[in-house]
Amino acid sequence: MKYAVAVLAAWLTALVLVSSVLAHAVLVRSVPGENAVLAQAPQEVRLWFNETISPQFSTARVLDIDGREVSPVSVQTDPGDPFLLVIKLPPLGNGLYSVNWRVLSEADGHFTAGLLVFAVGEGTAIEMAGDSETAEPLPWLEIALRWLNFILLALLIGGIGTAWLVLVTHDETGALASEVEAARGRILALSSWCAGISLLVGMGALAYQLSELQAGLVESTSVLRSGWQFLAGSRWGILWWARQGLLLALLVLLLFAHRGRRTSWDREMAAEASLDRPAGRPRGWPAWMAGSMTFGLALIQAMNGHAAALTPDSGLAIAADTLHLAGAGMWVGGLLALVIGFAPALWQEKRDPGALLQAGWGHFGRWAVLSLGLLAATGIYSAGRQVASIDALLTSRYGQALIVKMILFAGACSLGLLNGLTLHPRLVVLLARLLGKPNGWQPLPMYKIPAFILVEAGLGLLMFGLAGVLTATPPAHGPRFAPAAQELPKSLSQTVDDLLVTLAVRPNLPGQNVFTVQAISTRRPAPAEVLRVILRFRYLDQDLGSISADAQPEGGNLYRLGGNYLNLAGPWQVEVVVRRKGIEDGIALFNWTVASRLQSQPGIISRQAWGPPLIKLAGVLLGLTLAYGAGLAILTRSQRSPGSASSRASTPGAGEINLTIHDN
Ligand code: HEM
Repeated sequence: MKYAVAVLAAWLTALVLVSSVLAHAVLVRSVPGENAVLAQAPQEVRLWFNETISPQFSTARVLDIDGREVSPVSVQTDPGDPFLLVIKLPPLGNGLYSVNWRVLSEADGHFTAGLLVFAVGEGTAIEMAGDSETAEPLPWLEIALRWLNFILLALLIGGIGTAWLVLVTHDETGALASEVEAARGRILALSSWCAGISLLVGMGALAYQLSELQAGLVESTSVLRSGWQFLAGSRWGILWWARQGLLLALLVLLLFAHRGRRTSWDREMAAEASLDRPAGRPRGWPAWMAGSMTFGLALIQAMNGHAAALTPDSGLAIAADTLHLAGAGMWVGGLLALVIGFAPALWQEKRDPGALLQAGWGHFGRWAVLSLGLLAATGIYSAGRQVASIDALLTSRYGQALIVKMILFAGACSLGLLNGLTLHPRLVVLLARLLGKPNGWQPLPMYKIPAFILVEAGLGLLMFGLAGVLTATPPAHGPRFAPAAQELPKSLSQTVDDLLVTLAVRPNLPGQNVFTVQAISTRRPAPAEVLRVILRFRYLDQDLGSISADAQPEGGNLYRLGGNYLNLAGPWQVEVVVRRKGIEDGIALFNWTVASRLQSQPGIISRQAWGPPLIKLAGVLLGLTLAYGAGLAILTRSQRSPGSASSRASTPGAGEINLTIHDN
């Protein structure tokens, strides 16, 4: 238990420390704005991104209408605002200009590029309009590297998880004990290989990153110099060192654990498996260390992804992503590790596949159900945060990849259910009774199970490929996905104590708006006179800080404010504070959506934010999964306690082997 508490405390501390980090930089605002026609030449261009951008590796070129480069141009970041890139310009004459920017996200090391067009001189025509982001082709090499990385990480998590949690037998002398032991040895060897190959994939990812970096540099700098600056000075670089270091340590540990049957790992495992040992004792430091190192690798992966860029609650998003990776690893990686571990025994023709399958996969089912629950809960949470609406899901590349992933998930779950049912005779009897089938009925013949398990794992591998696409593509939220004005309510009302507060915003587009607040007390007489009405604005898709201003009384309980307080399309929180004489402030919190100027067509299904209901659904699923996990822990603990019927060693009967699962 002390190991568990220490490991949990270490990871919670790490999560708190990383909760402020940020990923895929997208331009959210600029001065001058896209397609602006300016009476006077600007001295600088200011670009705001949704993430912290790297000052060293962000570049911009300014071209005139004939494609000639304007110089000298200098690119700076603002120490007070890490989201801002400032491009200092020389004096410009009248005409059309394009700013080609390329920035590096501090969090995941992704480059994004785009084009901003503006004109100087009244009457200069701008014919180009539209999206300021360049539609880039899918980075296939990066996706392949991510895919390989996910598979290796899954095999590490699943391998260590199955060797530690699933394949622990009480029956040291039973008929299948030697096969189980051999499978465990093979799985640990596989894990060592995965750690070694992951180190090489890390080198490949670094080479890819450096080639991207070199391609974007304006001045010619040596690869070694810029590479070193990148590794030592960027967040990506620091996380890369942490990942490689952790992998190396894990490799050493696994080699040490696998060296011989009498290593401390094996002794601890054997001692744990013996019935003399009281229930609930830890399994020794090597297993705990290996488990927490793989969890650490999942955390580093999550910190390098889109979850880190979400505000608010990036810590929560990183925690969900880490659990998502852990669940995916335990399920798909565990299945594959068991296939590899038991392959030689399954291939022997005279063996009874039923007993072997139950020895290998029988207890795995419980962990698979737990992993599936975690995957669904955390996946739905991330979808609610990374995808703005149903329309964003349907129309964006990110959303479409997610739809395919969910279809594969449904297919793999159905196969998993079928496999799991067939391997659990008691469940089969129950199902047969429910379906009115005769005695001895099986949903699947036992000999087909290995093939079905392979298909289930294969679908999992495809899902890792889709996760590679997802993580290499900008998520589907932000101003681009905000609804059109006609799809949004004109006003919202809320009751706070005795006050009915109504907020209306016109025209409800990014930029100048008129805010009208009506604050009516429903009590007669009203308990106090209203002294002030203050409005406070906070953008919810990105941390832009908050700004507040006083609305002026207009008479008849009406208060009005005009100004540029909502400068981006998308979700905002507007806090209306009604200050009254001698009593507490009445505070109404409105979730207000600012319409997009870009949406001229009506939505396909809905452009309303779907995050809040999805996050609630994820919470319910997580609660159910945790309850299942707790129930499982109690059940296995009671089974393991000395003297309980199931913990007594017995001779294995037909189709039943004497394996007992161990919880942590
Ligand atoms: C209900 C089912 C699922 C949903 C809704 C879902 C959704 C998501 C979302 C939204 C992300 C965030 C990607 C990003 O960072 O932009 C993600 C990441 C990921 N998903 Fe899933 N997912 C599901 C099931 C699965 C399954 C079954 C697997 C594995 C076989 C899987 C593997 C992954 C991986 C490896 C990542 C990348 C995490 C990272 O880089 O931090 N997911 N998923």
